[in-house]
Parts: sequence; C-alpha cells; structure tokens
Amino acid sequence: MQNFVQYAPTEVIFGKGTENETGAAVKKWGGSRVLLVYGGGSAVRSGLLGRVEESLKKEGIIWEEFGGVKPNPRLSFAEEGIRRAIAFGADFILAVGGGSAIDTAKGIAHGAANPGVKLWDIWTKKVPLTRSTPVGVVLTIAAAGSEMSDSAVLTNEEIGKKAGINTVFNRVKFAVMNPELTFTLPKYQLACGITDIMMHTMERYFIPGIKCQLTDEIAEGLLRTVVENGKIAMENQRDYDAMAEIMWCSSLSHNNLTEAGRGKDFSVHKFGHALSARYDVAHGASLAAVWGSWANYQYDAAPDRFARFARKVWGIREQEDLKAAREGIRAAVDYFRSIGMPVSLTELGIHPTEEELKALALDATMNDTVKLSRLKPLGAAEALEIYRMAC
Ligand code: NZQ
Ligand code: ZN
Repeated sequence: MQNFVQYAPTEVIFGKGTENETGAAVKKWGGSRVLLVYGGGSAVRSGLLGRVEESLKKEGIIWEEFGGVKPNPRLSFAEEGIRRAIAFGADFILAVGGGSAIDTAKGIAHGAANPGVKLWDIWTKKVPLTRSTPVGVVLTIAAAGSEMSDSAVLTNEEIGKKAGINTVFNRVKFAVMNPELTFTLPKYQLACGITDIMMHTMERYFIPGIKCQLTDEIAEGLLRTVVENGKIAMENQRDYDAMAEIMWCSSLSHNNLTEAGRGKDFSVHKFGHALSARYDVAHGASLAAVWGSWANYQYDAAPDRFARFARKVWGIREQEDLKAAREGIRAAVDYFRSIGMPVSLTELGIHPTEEELKALALDATMNDTVKLSRLKPLGAAEALEIYRMAC
C-alpha cells in the first residue's frame, strides 16, 4: 500500500425531504447572501427550486438566481456567474443540479474570491488558487460525484478544450442528497450516471502491482452495488432504495476512498473529455463508447488485475487469467449496452475521419506531451490506436 492522504470534508445530508434543510445548512456554513446556480430548468419544473428557495427564506437568507448551466458547462458562463456573484456580494454559492451546475458553482466560487484573475488561469494553474467562496449542493443526479470530489470540469469553448482542476477548494461544504429528486431523470441520463460512477471506480482500480485489500474490496463492492441497482433502476426509476444506493455510490466513487493506497489513472476520462469538447456528447456516454477499446488494448499488461475484476465484479469462474480478463471486459461492455449506453463512437453518433481521430488523440494527450495510464503508457500514437478501435 502506498502512502496517501484521505480528506473528504463534505457534510452529507441524505434522504427524503432533505432539500427542505438546505437553508439551515447554508446558514450553518456561514452563508447569508447566496448565488443560486442551476441548469436548464429541470429543477424549476419539478418544483425543487421553489422548495429550496422556501428553505432559504425561512432562515432569513437572501439569494439571487443564476440559471441556465448547460451540460458540459462552459467557461464563459461561469465567468458571467463570477460577475453576478461579485455584483450581488454573494458570500455563498449554492448549486442545485448535477455535475454541470456544481462545477459551474465551483468555478464561480473560485473566481468570485479572486476578482480580476482570469478563471482559465486558475484552471490551468497559471495562478495558484489560495482561497475560494464556500459552496453547497442540492444534488439531482447521481453521476459525476462532484458533490464530494476535489475536482471541477469546465469547457473553454474558445479553444475547444475540456479540462478539470483538482484542488482542496473544490470540496463543497455540504451536499443535500434526496434520491427522490432523481425520479424525474431521463433514462439516458440515468444510464450515463451509472456508467460514470462505474468509471470513477474503475479508473482507480486498473493500477497493477500494489496490494490494497480494503481499497479493492470497497471498489468491488461499490461496482457490484451500482451494477445490481442500476438494473433495478433502469426498470423502475421510482425504486427509492435502488436510487439511494446509486446516489451514495456516486459520492463514494469519486471522493478518493477507492484510490486510498493505490492512486488513480483517469485515462479513459481524458479520452471522453476530448470527445465531449469536440462533439458536446454526454460525459457518461463518452466514457462507455471508449472503455471497451481501452480495456482490450490494456488488459494483457495486467491480466491478473482484469481477471480479478471479472471474478469479483461479474462472477466469472474462468481460472485462466487472460481468458477471465477477456470475459470480464465483455461482461462490462454488455452491461453498458444493456442500459442503453453506446459502446463505440458510431453508437455515440459520431463518425470521425482519420484526421479528426488524430486531433482527438492529441487533445487527450495534451499534444502528445503526457503519457496516460498506469498500464501501458499511452501517448498520442497509442491513443489514436484506441480511438480507431472504438470506431
Ligand atoms: O440542466 P437541467 O435542466 O437540470 O437538466 C439536466 C441535464 O440536461 C438533467 N438533469 C439533472 N438532474 C435532473 C435532470 N433532469 C431531470 N430530473 C433531474 N433530477 O440531466 C442533464 C445532465 O446534467 P449534468 O449536470 O450535466 O449531469 P452530470 O451530473 O452527469 O454532470 C456531467 C458533468 O460533470 C463533469 C462532466 O465532465 C460533465 O461536464 N464531471 C465532473 C466531475 C467532478 N467535478 O468531480 C467528475 C466527472 O468525471 C465529470 O467529468
Ligand atoms: Zn466522470
């Protein structure tokens, strides 16, 4: 086991009706003037925004609405939010929604605490981030794990790049999580969420040569839980217990618990972000579309690890590691397909030319300046090979 730091200081307020406690949580964490960040309108239509605002009012908190965050959230929209937060004198940023609203809120929080500094300079670490504004979350989709992660992802539409920043200032103060709020999710978004949760766990799992028994068992248990409850939820989205399991998995899959002692890889996310930046495809779907190709390219570098995944997560009984590894990959790809996820670029609805594939490979590897993955190192040439396989 390698040395590690585990620090995930978010207060989780979980269960039915908890959105009514939002105002009290904001107050507890020092907020009195709130910029309320939300997406394209699902929270308005469901009545959630009204309930959250009622709870703010009850605590004497004043707020200003800032709606309209789009999936694959844009840098320019976060910059607009920074202007609004500063003009309003916001001392707290509250996100109501999923990864896109939350990451926009995180961006606004960093920018508002550093007036005059360009947000992209913070994002690219040109300007070190030393302070931010407190953020709280009311979660409406189990997927990105941003409610407990140290990460935030924005797309700089001017340069066509989607990138994340990892910093302790991305840890939100509290996350209100009522699984009932996810009952209104479109099926496709539910499946994207299930996929993303699995990926966050798998991107920390396929790292060879390090013994971490507890971390492995947690990861495998988490994956089995998502797979099983994902099937139930896809059949009946109003199954509270299934949605509750998935929601809790979402947070634990990305709060660093499943990397303790091992670390992380996140190469499939780099492939997915390059796709989302160019084609504006949903995050979870972008990952499902390349994972099988990535795994088929990588598994012989660590057959024992892939075989363990096959046996512990998918119940495969094959004794020989290489064969078991292949069966496990097939089982995972079949599962993605069964919940309606694309398992190739074609199924994702895009048909890149060879030139476009090369551009994607360069995007994913920062112009061939980094080697992705802790298995076989992936530069632009190897990334291109995987994208080709994904066609
Ligand atoms: O915008 P609205 O109208 O709210 O609709 C959203 C959006 O269209 C809809 N939705 C959400 N909750 C709903 C709902 N519709 C009906 N009922 C509900 N309860 O779902 C759509 C997707 O929402 P979004 O917030 O984009 O989903 P998700 O949580 O999957 O977030 C994806 C974003 O998070 C980033 C992704 O790259 C992507 O930009 N990620 C952030 C991470 C982090 N900060 O730690 C890690 C992840 O790996 C990921 O990269
Ligand atoms: Zn993800």
